[in-house]
Amino acid sequence: MMAAKPTTDVPWWKSGIIYQIYPRSFCDANGDGVGDIQGIISKLEYLEWLGVRAIWISPIFPSPMADFGYDVADYTNIDPIFGTMDDFDQLLQQAHARGLYVLLDFVPNHTSDRHPWFVESRRSQNSAKRNWYIWHDGKPDGSPPNNWKSVFGGDAWEWDADTGQYYYHGFLKEQPDLNWRNPDVKEAMYNAMRFWLDKGVDGFRVDVMWHLIKDLQLRDNPPNPEYTTSQPSYNQLLPVYSTDQPEVHAVVAEMRKVVDAYDHRVIIGEIYLPIQQLMAYYGPQNDGAHMPFNFLLLNTPWFAPEISAAIDQYEGALPADGWPNWVLGNHDQPRLISRVGEHQARIAAMLLLTLRGTPTLYYGDEIGMRDVPIPVEEIRDPQGIHMPNKDLSRDPCRTPMQWSAGPYAGFSTATPWLRVDRNYARINVEAQRNSYFSMLSFYRKLIHLRNQEPALNHGTYTPIGATEQLLAYRRDSPLGDSFMTVLNFTSRPCRFSQPAPPLTGEVVAATAPEWENMSIQSDIYLAGDEGVLIRLKYGKNTT
Ligand code: NOJ
Repeated sequence: MMAAKPTTDVPWWKSGIIYQIYPRSFCDANGDGVGDIQGIISKLEYLEWLGVRAIWISPIFPSPMADFGYDVADYTNIDPIFGTMDDFDQLLQQAHARGLYVLLDFVPNHTSDRHPWFVESRRSQNSAKRNWYIWHDGKPDGSPPNNWKSVFGGDAWEWDADTGQYYYHGFLKEQPDLNWRNPDVKEAMYNAMRFWLDKGVDGFRVDVMWHLIKDLQLRDNPPNPEYTTSQPSYNQLLPVYSTDQPEVHAVVAEMRKVVDAYDHRVIIGEIYLPIQQLMAYYGPQNDGAHMPFNFLLLNTPWFAPEISAAIDQYEGALPADGWPNWVLGNHDQPRLISRVGEHQARIAAMLLLTLRGTPTLYYGDEIGMRDVPIPVEEIRDPQGIHMPNKDLSRDPCRTPMQWSAGPYAGFSTATPWLRVDRNYARINVEAQRNSYFSMLSFYRKLIHLRNQEPALNHGTYTPIGATEQLLAYRRDSPLGDSFMTVLNFTSRPCRFSQPAPPLTGEVVAATAPEWENMSIQSDIYLAGDEGVLIRLKYGKNTT
């Protein structure tokens, strides 16, 4: 069964907001210290109240958890740590009953080394599944076939003494890369997608989409002239032969066909590439990913001129009919608050929720969770463990959701798999839910405005101006309604000098609630870290 039908003609994934759940850390219903599916079910009421339209759940498939689920050992089942297939069916049914769409995390680039396919593949050079993975002889001196590096540190080739060849792994050696040039692999993976689509899953976030195809000749990657030793060793080389190969687009188009055989489904590609290369993943006829994730806000320096330029570059580069999207955080990145600071967190939320394009929220950002310092002996993330002293562990952004001031922040009755932030008695859902001035109420207000207002939801984006301090833009609906956002990216006061004639209207949301309902007639004087969202008196068609 699909989620309740949207009320407009705009597809749900354009009009709605996506909320990412890292299932280990969201809510633990069975008291083993790790979040699970029943835990998610118990929080659907919260998600509906918040106003998000879809949840994307990081992998819940059977896995040895070498990379916490991104090492899949069975694509069509549920790991017992998260529950059962019955639990999942319940989740899907109950989410849909509340009008929430469900996206799974599909990990096609690599499997676990315990996946039966790989177990078979490494049995012998003559194995029927040998060619399902990327095996190669070493060089005559016994060294690996080329210089490619693993994202998680060290060589990307692992020697298999039993069969006398190397296999390629872009990530952990426990995550061998599948050979996406092999039609049998493709068919098996497409069938796995169909398994979930048949159940009624609304689509997929596709892991490392740009890694899927590798250079056929396995040529060496060139050195990166900008590498510095504080960076991960992966950055020593430019991955021009190991990622983003031209043939990947045919694979993405095939995946798109798989989901297009069903109604209203969507694929979102995880792709970290420069804008022009990223745009190619929409496909030449918008027949690629519905949305290649846009991570620009994760790494653009947090200054008005830079952010403004990034938005314009992105808007300008979008293919005709390509639908934009924006991301402020995920389970691989430092948390929003720890990047931009507490003072700018509301500015960031206002930006995310008033830009043109589907926003993706990362669990906990809506209550202002921050990166939690994890003592070295408690580090769980393989990226942190494999590259010590580079501060690359992703644990700090994966800590348990803070639901209440109760034990373990209401996340679990047992010691959680990762420590809870010590601030949980103050920073939690329960404390913020009924507090008008809280971060959570602020998010909810913006979310509901975005859901209700066609201009914010799918209207056009027009920059009004950026100064050293502030950014202003408007959103206009074809129906005539218009909004203007003005954001101060600094902690100093600033003045937004209105064009002539001035844009007039009323403040409908602001970082500081004192602004609400104020009438705007002329220049706007913002205090530090303030932002306002104004419903304009005269929409674009009436000025
Ligand atoms: C990207 C995922 O987001 C990350 O968590 C994971 O470690 C790698 N892909 C490998 O699957």
